[in-house]
Amino acid sequence: MAENNPKIYDIVIFGASGFTGKYVVREALKFLNVPNSPLHSLALAGRSPSRLSQALKWAARSDSPPKIPLLTADTSDPNSLSRVAAQAKIILNCVGPFRLYGEPVVAACADSGCDYLDICGEPEFMERMEASYHEKAVEKGSLVISACGFDSIPAEIGLLFHSKQWVGSSVPNRVEAYLSLESDKKIVGNYGTYESAVLGVANADQLAQLRKSRPRRARPDIPGPASGKGGSVMEHQKQLDLWALKLPSADSVVVRRTLATLTENPNGLPGVNESDERAKKREAFWSSIKPAHFGVKIASKSLLGLLPTVVLGLFLALLCKSAFGRWLLLKYPSVFSLGWFRKEGPTEDEVASATFKMWFVGHGYSDSSLASQGNKKPDTEVITRVSGPEIGYLTTPIVLIQSALVLLNDRDNLPKGGVFTPGIVFGPTDLQERIQENGVSFDFISKKALSP
Ligand SMILES: NC(=O)c1ccc[n+]([C@@H]2O[C@H](COP(=O)([O-])OP(=O)(O)OC[C@H]3O[C@@H](n4cnc5c(N)ncnc54)[C@H](OP(=O)(O)O)[C@@H]3O)[C@@H](O)[C@H]2O)c1
Repeated sequence: MAENNPKIYDIVIFGASGFTGKYVVREALKFLNVPNSPLHSLALAGRSPSRLSQALKWAARSDSPPKIPLLTADTSDPNSLSRVAAQAKIILNCVGPFRLYGEPVVAACADSGCDYLDICGEPEFMERMEASYHEKAVEKGSLVISACGFDSIPAEIGLLFHSKQWVGSSVPNRVEAYLSLESDKKIVGNYGTYESAVLGVANADQLAQLRKSRPRRARPDIPGPASGKGGSVMEHQKQLDLWALKLPSADSVVVRRTLATLTENPNGLPGVNESDERAKKREAFWSSIKPAHFGVKIASKSLLGLLPTVVLGLFLALLCKSAFGRWLLLKYPSVFSLGWFRKEGPTEDEVASATFKMWFVGHGYSDSSLASQGNKKPDTEVITRVSGPEIGYLTTPIVLIQSALVLLNDRDNLPKGGVFTPGIVFGPTDLQERIQENGVSFDFISKKALSP
């Protein structure tokens, strides 16, 4: 963070009036001025003070909520963003789609040395911000970390947890994450996520162009076959008894960027004011991590349960390319997603009823020397699991707020600044324990030898 710059607010939640934003406010209030919490001052920011005030009342479940400053800021007014960034230690950005609204917020934070976390799940935005703002963020001491929501903290921290189960000389080759969403009510997402997905697919060529224009990142040295086993688009996962379909989510892209940064910095990223003891702990942490090929699949107990994903995927592929097709998709989200996404979002009951399980099924070798023996098949399987409440509006606020509290608590032991993925920054911190204490579990399930 920039020095000699009085920061009035520990955290400012930008986009607090949005569907996700108001759940983030509800989660933040649990930690405001309570014993052992580093959160002493909170402000909400957005375009409309009256909508912010309504969101605060909703989040506090009270018509006379705590007195929290409401700051006016609009992404089309850079000065308003600079004013907020100048007063905040951390901005939590909940204004999306990020490809439309995110860049001025990152620019304001990088300029003023304010830390920035967001709940973006859009790979192009994240990679563009890294290309455009990394140098400035390093210089000014601003940590810019996207994907601090369900995309992609459970995948990032879940994969690190999984990796630590490959003890001794055993090594993973490929880890497949199977994401199962469960509820006794309907599973529903809000329009904001749907719009972000539609615009992401419509502009997929821009991501390809951006990647072509950038230098190739380092690739980790993964023992065993080049892309690992598990490339099928659809499968029946026998161990879990789940049907699964490849999911082009942000998670695998974010994980790949974390592994690239780790390959370039095998000891991780030094903290700005780190003690020797903490440096040793960080180095020990990363030396226990064994990179693997990684993919994500959406999973369901029945083939029918995958139908909304298949239907939405087909409509996105068919309609995203034309302006009329995009108009149709955005006008009728419920029709094209078989009710999965709604303009007005899920009800509180629907949110409260939903849960997720993310199973990490890893295949690898009982001894790393086996991996170098030509095409020898993996002989070991490890299964771990991350599970928790509804993904978009309960787990996302939990992991975002805990990430922010780690920044407040542990800033000296984190990098001075730069644009990074959550895994490389939070891996060696207590983030996993914190989110576990707040309802997201990390469990070891099994380890077994595979028949040849
Ligand atoms: N990582 C994850 O797992 C995860 C989970 C949930 C959501 N998300 C992402 O979060 C984003 C928001 O989703 P949502 O469903 O909460 O959307 P939403 O309900 O439409 O909320 C959007 C928010 O952005 C604000 N906003 C829009 N334009 C603005 C501008 N020009 N300047 C300032 N504020 C502006 C809106 O303010 P007003 O009240 O003034 O309109 C509102 O507060 C999406 O990109 C979604 O994909 C990610």
